[in-house]
Amino acid sequence: MSTNIPPQNLEKIIPEAEDFLPLLGTDYVELYVGNAKQAAYYYQTAWGFQIVAYAGLETGRKDSVSYVMQQDKIRLVLTSPLQPDGDINDHINAHGDGVKVIALWVDDATKSYEETIKRGAKSYLEPKVEKDKNGSVIFSGIHTYGETVHIFVERKNYNGSFLPGYMPVNKPYKTEPTGLKFIDHMVGNVGWNEMNKWCEFYAKVMGFAQLVSFDDKDISTEYTALMSKVMSNGNGRIKFPINEPAEGRKKSQIEEYIDFYNGAGVQHMALATDNIIETVSILQNRGIEFLTVPASYYETVLDRVGEIDEDLAPLKELGILIDRDDEGYLLQIFTKPILDRPTMFFEIIQRKGAQSFGKGNFKALFEAIEREQQQRGTL
Ligand code: FE2
Repeated sequence: MSTNIPPQNLEKIIPEAEDFLPLLGTDYVELYVGNAKQAAYYYQTAWGFQIVAYAGLETGRKDSVSYVMQQDKIRLVLTSPLQPDGDINDHINAHGDGVKVIALWVDDATKSYEETIKRGAKSYLEPKVEKDKNGSVIFSGIHTYGETVHIFVERKNYNGSFLPGYMPVNKPYKTEPTGLKFIDHMVGNVGWNEMNKWCEFYAKVMGFAQLVSFDDKDISTEYTALMSKVMSNGNGRIKFPINEPAEGRKKSQIEEYIDFYNGAGVQHMALATDNIIETVSILQNRGIEFLTVPASYYETVLDRVGEIDEDLAPLKELGILIDRDDEGYLLQIFTKPILDRPTMFFEIIQRKGAQSFGKGNFKALFEAIEREQQQRGTL
């Protein structure tokens, strides 16, 4: 069963008085990585992000280093430890490189903390103020699935390059952007029978509403299955689909993730572009590997989705998938895992009206993932 609620109607579902956690957008996504300097080079050279800010030994930070990578509205923070012990090391040791923080931009970080804690959130960071010559920022944080956390960032009294403690970076080495604009959605993988618990967390603790749900009949192939629900905040700017594994004849791709990530965590970030053909062409030229579907997908796809603005030939050549819902269509493609562990990957998405998530592509896509699992011996 799936019910699609366009974001503009969400506000009617969550009346303003009840939107106790107004979110302005994603502030940044922080990954804990083994080698931030080299990861920064990958995100810059392959993905077209630029390094805009930095914190480390040169800024007085002794135990860790962070590079802030930006492309349009997308901000990634890559953090590595400089010492043998501590939370960052523990996180990398357990999970490999992965997302630690999904930071949310708010007007009032203290109220965001109080309202979510009152509704049952587990505290990660009590509200605190940090200052430098560019002003002050208030932070607070709560735990979500696995070891992932949400940090609320109130930055209305700050005009520095990123956050207090960071220095701006403007190196001569620049790469061409790849047309990535903003984070469309971020997907979490959780363990067996945990999807409803985490959807309830987003509903009850954070005031989100459920947009869509897919069961194992929607998302199953001959061998493997998963279940998924999409949670959205009141203004529709933040969308968090949550997946859990489902029983199939062989191992679910979600179970493979949980095995290698050693628990629940962020499975993929979907990055929006206005021109997916151009974006994916550049990314492929720079060595990013995408999942491919059989050529036969393109023989029938237009029967399924109807007329589209783009020529089919470049979509087929690049392996871009197409789906349609009541409001329009979308173009999407998924990378292979970006790490040695088969854990996190990226989706590139261009929406042309459609507000859904590509349900019509699930079967072709999961069969592509299973071919990869087969090669890894993890199916
Ligand atoms: Fe997605």
